[in-house]
Amino acid sequence: MSNIQHFGQTAKGEDVAVIALSKGDISCKVLSFGATIQSLTVPDRNGQSLDIVLGYDSIKEYETLDAYLGAVVGRYANRIAKGKFSLNGKEYSLAINNGPNHLHGGIVGFSYKVWTIEDAGEDFVKLSLESADGEEAYPGNMKLTVTYTLENSSLSIHYEAVSDADTVCNLTNHSYFNLAGHSSGSALKQELKLNAEFYTPTDADSIPYGELSPVAGTPMDFREFTKLGERIDSDFIQLVQGNGYDHNYVVDGEVGQLRPAATARCAESGICMQLETTQPGVQLYTANYINEGRPGKGGAAYGPRHAFCLETQHFPDSPNKPNFPSAVLKAGEKYDHTARFIFSVE
Ligand code: BGC
Repeated sequence: MSNIQHFGQTAKGEDVAVIALSKGDISCKVLSFGATIQSLTVPDRNGQSLDIVLGYDSIKEYETLDAYLGAVVGRYANRIAKGKFSLNGKEYSLAINNGPNHLHGGIVGFSYKVWTIEDAGEDFVKLSLESADGEEAYPGNMKLTVTYTLENSSLSIHYEAVSDADTVCNLTNHSYFNLAGHSSGSALKQELKLNAEFYTPTDADSIPYGELSPVAGTPMDFREFTKLGERIDSDFIQLVQGNGYDHNYVVDGEVGQLRPAATARCAESGICMQLETTQPGVQLYTANYINEGRPGKGGAAYGPRHAFCLETQHFPDSPNKPNFPSAVLKAGEKYDHTARFIFSVE
């Protein structure tokens, strides 16, 4: 297809393609490296196109600057405490790559792999990956696909996976959004509404204690539109420990149903983004650890809190939390998860 082009080569010499998708006035570029959304362009209220996701211009930056910009993360997105979990009576030890914990699938998670382009058209691409039994110490040979589809005013992401042995599976996309444009600086004036009455408070290393706590009466409450920056620097222990928002919210409604999870909007551009998910949770992460002056696409300089992530997911550390919805994928069963981002202007 003419919309597939060479993007670059990994340090190991693997070829990476970029797939340019468009539909109506939305366009998007996807890399075969990490199944990464490199750009996502939508119209602002004046009809001008704005690229609203952070990204890099070269594969080298994706390989070396460790922030999962736009990538699909797995096999287990988010954290597993001490990198350990038991399944069917056997203990598994995963790489420790975030403080004392395992994060985003380990050292070479799915975000660092070159995926295969299975199918593509003007407005969709389906990428696939095979993850061998024992890779990053996870059990089971797993086959997975991620399909990005543009509709007239939305981008949907469909994740499917099967494994030949029982395993754990938690896939998400790690896009960093800034609805005033990726290079516009702080995102703290942008407003967020989360359909979540509860969140999962964490210890200092971002591992949930296991309980679901009501957001009511705390700066974690986004049930009404609130600026991201309004309470981010309060002395609420969860925000102090997380250096901002870095928390899993329990999405209201029935797990497995595609249901509204969040709406973000930006007064400056007029861009409004709604998120729907089938997953139990969504991680709100306010890019707390993007260092000041990090070079981005087209000469942009990114910094802390220049974006926000809404990572649809199983709750962090679910493999060690029997009261959380199970993230076990049984042999032969299908993991099937959809996230949809819907755009409009106000
Ligand atoms: C995590 C953050 C982490 C970031 C890495 C987020 O999903 O919750 O703690 O720093 O990913 O880019």
